[in-house]
Parts: sequence; C-alpha cells; structure tokens
Amino acid sequence: MVGNGGTVLDTAPSYGASEHVSGRIARQIGMTNRIVWATKVNVLRRGSNDRADASAARAQVEQSFERIGKEPIDLIQVHNLADLPTQMGVISELKKDGRIRYIGTTSTKHRRYPDLAKAMRDFPIDFIGVDYAIDNRLAADRILPLAKELGIAVLVYIPFGRSRLFSRVRGMDVPAWAQEMGADTWAKFFIKYVAANPATTCVTPSTSKAKHMLDNIGAAYGELPDVKVRRKMEQLIDSLPSA
Ligand SMILES: NC(=O)c1ccc[n+]([C@@H]2O[C@H](COP(=O)([O-])OP(=O)(O)OC[C@H]3O[C@@H](n4cnc5c(N)ncnc54)[C@H](OP(=O)(O)O)[C@@H]3O)[C@@H](O)[C@H]2O)c1
Repeated sequence: MVGNGGTVLDTAPSYGASEHVSGRIARQIGMTNRIVWATKVNVLRRGSNDRADASAARAQVEQSFERIGKEPIDLIQVHNLADLPTQMGVISELKKDGRIRYIGTTSTKHRRYPDLAKAMRDFPIDFIGVDYAIDNRLAADRILPLAKELGIAVLVYIPFGRSRLFSRVRGMDVPAWAQEMGADTWAKFFIKYVAANPATTCVTPSTSKAKHMLDNIGAAYGELPDVKVRRKMEQLIDSLPSA
C-alpha cells in the first residue's frame, strides 16, 4: 500500500483485530510513521443512547496509542456520533495536549445526517467520515457542501456500497470513455467518481485482498472525471437494475 502511494489507514477499536494487527504489521516492516493513522473512539454499545464513561473513552484511546505506536495519532473520530459531548470532550483535550493531530466524527446512516450536520456546526472538528458512492449520493446533497463551507476534511466510506456496486455491473465491461481516464476496472471507476467530488479529502475502500488494494490504489493515477463526465457516470449506473 505504502509503496504504491497509499497513505491513510482507517481503522477502529471495534473492528475486531484490525487496529491491533495493522499496528503490529506496520511496526514490523518499519512503516508506522509513513502511515496517516485514522482511528476512532466509542465505548458505548451499538445503538445505545447512554452516556459514555469518559475514563473508559480515555482508556480506549490509550489502547490505540499502544496498538498503533505513533504519537501524535493523526486522526481520532467519535464513531457513529456516539455521545459526542463526552467523547468529543475527551479527544479535544488530547488534541490540545498535542497527542492527536486531528479530531472528527463519523456516520454512515442517512437518518443521522441531521445530527452529523449539527455536530459539524457545533464542534470544532477537522474531519468527518461519511458514506458516499455513485449509487448512494445523498451525502453529496446534504453533507459534503457543508463540509466544504466549514473547511472540514472528508473521509469517504463505503465507496463500493460494500458488494452492491460490483453486483450491479457484473458481466459488464467498463466503457471505453471511462478507460480513457484510467478507470480500466469497475473499482477504479467507482473510486474516481467519489474522489472527484471537491469536498473529498480521501477515499477509504476496504479489502481483504492485496490484489484488490492495488486495483483500488490505481484509482489515484490517471485523470479524475470533470462534472460532465461525472454526470455520464451517474447516468450509466442509474440505468442499471438495483442490486
Ligand atoms: N461508521 C463508520 O465509521 C464506518 C461505517 C462503515 C465503514 N466505515 C469505513 O469505510 C471503510 C469501507 O467500508 P466497507 O468495507 O463497509 O465498504 P466498501 O469499501 O464499499 O466495500 C468493501 C467490499 O468491496 C470489496 N472490494 C474491495 N476492493 C475491491 C476490488 N478492487 N474489486 C472487487 N471487490 C472489491 C471487498 O471485498 P474483498 O475483501 O474481497 O476485496 C469488500 O467486500 C471501512 O473499512 C471503514 O474504515 C466506517
């Protein structure tokens, strides 16, 4: 990933062994400081409306420092907007102390977009993480323009709709006009589309396969589509049956 120009690694304490294993492997191959580490904090159970325990949140962040082995950590976001007053308070303090470079929050649920927009206005955040894909464009109407207006950086999550977009194009070739701008695979087509939004800072597709990672990084090469080509890309995908 790093050798091919990849820089950002997005993880979270709640992603099973992800933070622990990626931190260990990066350390073993001497790449820790060449990676921009984005991790998250949330000590509440999924969907819980309880208040988070600040000392538990601090302990979780300390665990991330240990697992990743880099200080300051580049970015810590409050996962899924969970108890922002408490957990944003914890990471804001650590940012003030110089232990975290950037702070933010994430949401990948359309029904939470009003809360995400409120958080973007109410808290002094540097980043958000939000779902955005060529067939999931609500963030481009509601959230990305606000990020641009407020100067907040954007990590694009779920750029393939998990496996949904690949199912929609199964059996089809990437059209020649897209291949001309370097999108010679569907993964590159989907990533180039979201990367070209002026509010996008970074796209974080996930994969368990090195071959797919190299394919995905290939989207960073060649051209990005302009507004006209992006409309053409949307029309093509919109014309296909839903997955
Ligand atoms: N609330 C949050 O904070 C939140 C929520 C969701 C996601 N996220 C972030 O967003 C990242 C991406 O989201 P996601 O994993 O849900 O969805 P995604 O990136 O849209 O899709 C991942 C799927 O695409 C496949 N894939 C990847 N590259 C491919 C390629 N080149 N060709 C064919 N298939 C390919 C993967 O399978 P293979 O393993 O077989 O490649 C996997 O099934 C996550 O890792 C996470 O960091 C954050």
